[in-house]
Amino acid sequence: MAVPYSCRLVSRRPSGYAPPVAGPRRAAKNQPAANGPRNTEAVAAAGGPSCRGHPDTGTCGAAKADFHSPASEVTPLDAQSPVPGTAAVREIDVDDLVLEDRVHRLLYTSPALFDAEMRRIFERTWVFVGHESEVSQPGDYLSTLVGRQPVILSRHADGSLHVLLNRCMHRGAVVCRAEHGNSTAFRCMYHGWVYDTRGDLIAVPFPGGYGPGFDQAALGLPRAPRIGTYRGFVFASLSPAGPSLEAHLGKAREYLDLILDAAPEGAIAVRSGVERYAYPANWKLQIENLLDGYHPNFTHQIAFEISERRRGVSGRKANSEGSGATARTFGPGHGVLHYSAVNRGYQGRDADQPEYRRLLEERLGKDRASEVLRADIQLFVFPNLFFQSARQHFRVVRPLAVDRTEVYAYPYTLGGAPEAMNRRQVRSLAWWASPAAFGQPDDLEAFVRCQEGLQVTAAEWVLFARGLHRERISADGEVTGDVTDEVPQRGIYREWKRLMHDARG
Ligand code: FES
Ligand code: FE
Repeated sequence: MAVPYSCRLVSRRPSGYAPPVAGPRRAAKNQPAANGPRNTEAVAAAGGPSCRGHPDTGTCGAAKADFHSPASEVTPLDAQSPVPGTAAVREIDVDDLVLEDRVHRLLYTSPALFDAEMRRIFERTWVFVGHESEVSQPGDYLSTLVGRQPVILSRHADGSLHVLLNRCMHRGAVVCRAEHGNSTAFRCMYHGWVYDTRGDLIAVPFPGGYGPGFDQAALGLPRAPRIGTYRGFVFASLSPAGPSLEAHLGKAREYLDLILDAAPEGAIAVRSGVERYAYPANWKLQIENLLDGYHPNFTHQIAFEISERRRGVSGRKANSEGSGATARTFGPGHGVLHYSAVNRGYQGRDADQPEYRRLLEERLGKDRASEVLRADIQLFVFPNLFFQSARQHFRVVRPLAVDRTEVYAYPYTLGGAPEAMNRRQVRSLAWWASPAAFGQPDDLEAFVRCQEGLQVTAAEWVLFARGLHRERISADGEVTGDVTDEVPQRGIYREWKRLMHDARG
């Protein structure tokens, strides 16, 4: 009997093997195979190379003035350096792991695939590293990760921004252990080498011991090859080549503008701390969930009931099929849940703030101000950045291991908005998305249950088929479906597959 979706991870296919054909109708009919190979990691390692080419991303016509690259110096990284565990992934045919309506369970359980994701996705595309308001003063810095690589975002004495690789050039210790602070220099705790906030090596203890050939100027901290900003959001790419930040963000800028234009002064500030949590499951479970309008009525049933009892409203109606809210995907893996047709955005929450509306209309004009006040959207920027206008925050998903993830949720304040309004929004995030809140713990429980369930080898596929037959595609390529449809998840995995096609390792 034919097994149309049994897993094949290598290109040395047995004779008679027919590659799966993805498509709405066929995919919907076929059930995931129950009798594929049992040890697929071993199968993958045993096969031959099979990587295929990938298409280039398109370009976008955004105004250049919106972008700048604060770092002028470029230190190419050794992009070809081997990473343990990737050898096996060279053999995996990612086309057979990601179909149009499903992905293979190995995406959540294979350490080799996780290693490949870090190199081919996080060390290659644009990754958010911080907001300019977090490093507003000379000497301000924060430390974070790009994939698994520790980096420092710093503002030098001359006001320039830098993304430095957090790795002492002597013997490799991180030179900055604090999460954020202000300093004129980073002093390595091991042997005392000192770097300034631009990354230059400015002091070495007992330098005479290195002899006349010692080139101190060549031993500055490595820098991210490319950095760029959009409306205060700083991104870095560890690859010297690839689409510009402008092209990477594409249409995400329009949605980001809709969110950030809610600030009467046109800028937000990140000054209210962070809600931080970790969970023992794969990072993609969180990014799938960020734009999953199918789950709230069930995962958050109790939270909705409490909300309805206390406040008379909840997200139940908006997240029901046919509510009028939509799920969308566009560009390289980005997506949106758009609730503006069913919710009232800031209009509903801040009708008591006429001064706020006046300030907004003054800057944006009446029509745009109305559009911004009505907006209720959740935006995902591939690969790991998420915005939620209703709870006025953004989140960063940090993959730590194949089954370990951290999430940082940053409330932000709207520049120029009444302080009481900003305070209310920060509290709203704490109510829903803090580690001990009404909403987020439900999601974390779901992630952990998925990670446990995906250890089952008798069922290989994770389904994202919902709404595939009723997708609508606009002239600019945006794909739209019902809010409960798995449109954004399919967009995420199309981009995942494109980036994972990479013969470099
Ligand atoms: Fe940094 Fe030695 S490892 S000074
Ligand atoms: Fe949720």
